[in-house]
Amino acid sequence: MEVIQVQEWLSRTNEDLQEQKDYLTSLDRAIGDGDHGINMARGFKEVTKSLEGKDFTEVSDVLKAAATTVMSKVGGASGPLYGTALLKMSMACKGKQVDYKTLIEMVEAGLEGIKQRGKAETGEKTMVDVWTPVLSGMKEVDHFDGERIKHVAEEAKDNTESMQATKGRAAYLKERSKGHLDPGAVSSYFLFKNLALVMEEA
Ligand SMILES: Nc1ncnc2c1ncn2[C@@H]1O[C@H](COP(=O)(O)OP(=O)(O)O)[C@@H](O)[C@H]1O
Ligand SMILES: [Mg+2]
Repeated sequence: MEVIQVQEWLSRTNEDLQEQKDYLTSLDRAIGDGDHGINMARGFKEVTKSLEGKDFTEVSDVLKAAATTVMSKVGGASGPLYGTALLKMSMACKGKQVDYKTLIEMVEAGLEGIKQRGKAETGEKTMVDVWTPVLSGMKEVDHFDGERIKHVAEEAKDNTESMQATKGRAAYLKERSKGHLDPGAVSSYFLFKNLALVMEEA
């Protein structure tokens, strides 16, 4: 993975988030406070703007810049969570060529960051329920397989529908949180879908 691909990854994710802003917000309206689409669209628009036309020497620097913007612009619970994930990913590849092994370490570090920050484990109906299977799916093979990652992420976000939330705002709804997709799981699906896209084009 090269600098240009990370920029492309974040910018394509932004395009999805702008298009899916109302969808994400409607998901969050069902089991949260209805701001997830707004939070993500605002934050990633700023990320794309802040990366435009800039020269970065390594992948780590792009992710660090994105992390800072996400933390300050996304807001809600997801801002610090995605900000932490990007920052940990940046730290995991500092000074390195990002080969497949490193990319796995980055996703692992990102997931650990989310779990620590959110005190969440799998099965709690959060973005963790997408990151965890994606990481496992990556570890099972020795090269980046975009179709596989996209498929795993998609299935994982769909699986959050039947879960009962025990973290985040949706947890207040207890049983009634079942039957809805988790908004953060869906935005994480967009992240990995676009990672797959960008890596496949390389
Ligand atoms: N403690 C947590 N750990 C992991 N993810 C969480 C946690 N709390 C919330 N989330 C994720 O954040 C999403 C909600 O984001 P958002 O609506 O932007 O923030 P808020 O809940 O503050 O309104 C949830 O759908 C879930 O995926
Ligand atoms: Mg919300």
